[in-house]
Amino acid sequence: MRIFLDTADIDEIREAARWGILSGITTNPTLMMKSGGKSHEAVIREIAEIVDGPISAETISLDTEGMLVEARRFAKWHPNVVVKVPSTPNGWAAVKRLKEEGIRTNVTLCFSANQALFAALAGAYIISPFVGRLDDISEDGMQVVRDTVEIYRKHNLPTLVLAASIRHPLHIIDAAKAGADIATVPFKVLELAAKHPLTDKGIDNFLKDWQKFTEETGGRQA
Ligand code: G3P
Repeated sequence: MRIFLDTADIDEIREAARWGILSGITTNPTLMMKSGGKSHEAVIREIAEIVDGPISAETISLDTEGMLVEARRFAKWHPNVVVKVPSTPNGWAAVKRLKEEGIRTNVTLCFSANQALFAALAGAYIISPFVGRLDDISEDGMQVVRDTVEIYRKHNLPTLVLAASIRHPLHIIDAAKAGADIATVPFKVLELAAKHPLTDKGIDNFLKDWQKFTEETGGRQA
């Protein structure tokens, strides 16, 4: 399973990219709003300079023609741009047309395996089931990921399953166990998942012991 960062914050992207584990980026209008006053195009182009992998940019049109206009504009910004459209009949219609034009899509706001099936049938490159937002309403969000993976594998549908709306480190593990191709993770969750107190304690102890060792040997082992 690949890890994407769910952010439009350039500092977070630079830091996660430095770790060597980052394969792509997802953005949405809410994340763009938090990104600090630059244009949509400027942010996506800046991300593309840092990350060599799919970068999702979201449309805001509700009608198919509007989505197509936005998608064609986004696709010119960088070859790695993947266009996000919503899980609606208009969204699936846009996916079909964009696939014919060679523009990759990420079908977002997916909350059921039926919506995931329809996105794949339309030719989506990525489907994004929203795990956390289903958990928020007392439904098992990860079950949509499990069902989607099972349906896609059983019917040889090549659409990639991207677990979105990831809220805590266990979601990452569960998405990987469910067979998701990608999990898109907020930077805060990535940091939480990266840390373990025993790792920090172990480093601390090794450094102290090494210090004692070099003092005893008069620095000869340094
Ligand atoms: O990018 C879409 C998704 O990951 C949003 O997550 O936390 O706003 O439900 P959240």
